[in-house]
Amino acid sequence: MNSNPAPWWRGAVFYQVYPRSFSDSNGDGEGDLVGIIKRLDYLVSLSVDAIWLSPFYKSPLADGGYDVSDPRSVDPRFGTLEDFRNLIQESHALGLRVVVDIVPNHFSSEHPWFQQALNSAVGSKERARFHFRDGSGADGATPPNNWLSVFGGRAWTQVQERDGSVGQWYLHVFDASQPDLNWDNPEVRADFEETLRFWLDLGVDGFRIDVAHGMYKDPTFADHPDPQGLAEAIRLDLVDDEESLDGNTKVLRELIQTAPYFDRDEVHGVYREWRKVLDSYSHDPVTVAEAWVYPPARAARYVREDELSQIFNFEFLVAPWKANAIKRAIQSTLNSMAEVGASATWVLSNHDSPRVVSRLGERRARAMALIAQALPGSLYVFQGEELGLPDAQIPDSARQDPVWFRTEGEQLGRDGCRVPLPWLEQGDSFGFASAESGFEGAQPQAPWLPQPSDWGRYSVATQVTHEDSFLWLYRRALGIRRQHPALGWRQGDFTFLESAPEGVVAFRRDPRFVCIANTNAQSSRVTLNGPVLLIASAGDVQIDGDLVTLPPDTTAWFEVGS
Ligand code: NOJ
Repeated sequence: MNSNPAPWWRGAVFYQVYPRSFSDSNGDGEGDLVGIIKRLDYLVSLSVDAIWLSPFYKSPLADGGYDVSDPRSVDPRFGTLEDFRNLIQESHALGLRVVVDIVPNHFSSEHPWFQQALNSAVGSKERARFHFRDGSGADGATPPNNWLSVFGGRAWTQVQERDGSVGQWYLHVFDASQPDLNWDNPEVRADFEETLRFWLDLGVDGFRIDVAHGMYKDPTFADHPDPQGLAEAIRLDLVDDEESLDGNTKVLRELIQTAPYFDRDEVHGVYREWRKVLDSYSHDPVTVAEAWVYPPARAARYVREDELSQIFNFEFLVAPWKANAIKRAIQSTLNSMAEVGASATWVLSNHDSPRVVSRLGERRARAMALIAQALPGSLYVFQGEELGLPDAQIPDSARQDPVWFRTEGEQLGRDGCRVPLPWLEQGDSFGFASAESGFEGAQPQAPWLPQPSDWGRYSVATQVTHEDSFLWLYRRALGIRRQHPALGWRQGDFTFLESAPEGVVAFRRDPRFVCIANTNAQSSRVTLNGPVLLIASAGDVQIDGDLVTLPPDTTAWFEVGS
């Protein structure tokens, strides 16, 4: 038997901080690292184990910082390296681990490498770090192939050559300001290993890997048979709420599997190399892959024993509020992860997807949260999810997401879930700026994305005074999750209660824990023995002997006999 204790991350709760929108210490309208430090106590009070920081590296922020121009630095808008050191130190002192993003598919076009490539000749070693190709047609004005950007428009942009000759084209699967790196180039591989070590040496506890299924391309660069359909399928995948794996979803996912720039086998070689780097550190850093790949067996390949630790579970994230779909997402996740000995992750929202409350409605979002928090594995909570924030309406003139610009307004993009958090009921920024919250700081400028005028009712200050608030549900449930011996990660202790009626998701975790979710529009009855602990997402749960009646759209947790 393996006597090693399970690594810390297998059952951990990760709280995703989107630094630009979390807490603004200097009043410039954008959040920053010092702002996060000031709010660490809040995260402790939520019983989370780790924070994952979306990028805070030097960047023109054309794609919210996922366009990195210096991966081993802090952008002055977010603070300094010294601030980051303090953040690590103070987090660790409070028992919070810190995970950071790494963005290997592309750099920002402002990265010195890309600037050098633009200034260098066709065929130079500077160009060989990216994917530069000649165009076709007499004047080279037709892109090298028909691939389209995931964000809309072409995946190629033509450059101007300094000597006046016909310009080459470079590949960008995302925005034109995000040129794709050439992972066949050893310089690229070496540079990312240096980045891993740089942050690990500063004490980070792991990495979230952006577009972890990207990096390698079909080396033939052949045309795709349906580039438009493919790009739309990839965009829609984020917002799909059809019954999973039925009809449209299945077609979309099959199309995604044909992407010539995603999920190529070569990428696994990189993760095996990275793993060696990570294993040379003794604090057991975690790696979590952002990889929208299908079918689940392909996803499991990223978390084989000698590769990454975890992969985000997007099937669960997009599952509609239907018992069968939820059960299917849970079962397929557990099966595919068990095949490679990995633990599952449960995610309800992130900075790329509609907020849960906007997707499901508030009552169901509460109920879904209690399901997610009771499942075996680790949990990712996106900032503001614990406040029940909906997506904000953004005036078109304020939008920032490249998806909005590149689809020419056809897709609104992701700004709605990225609006700065409300900490106070009142104030020009609802306490997002430190000065308003009673910390020191300059008189604030307006937040970088406008907060809706009713944002105060979702604020932390308002919710802490109401025990039936969203925030209290999260606090209580995460508190129980941390204490209860059945919750978090335990291998092989999960069973669906097959006796549950139609429309009810019920499962048992040992010892003595049962979670029941009623997705029906009417009350449902379930037989249980000996409820002690009871926490419900909404409504009145009635208990009559061993008969439990659950109102519609409600989840409840029970402690039962053995
Ligand atoms: C996934 C990130 O989460 C998203 O925000 C970003 O736009 C793309 N990758 C490109 O880096």
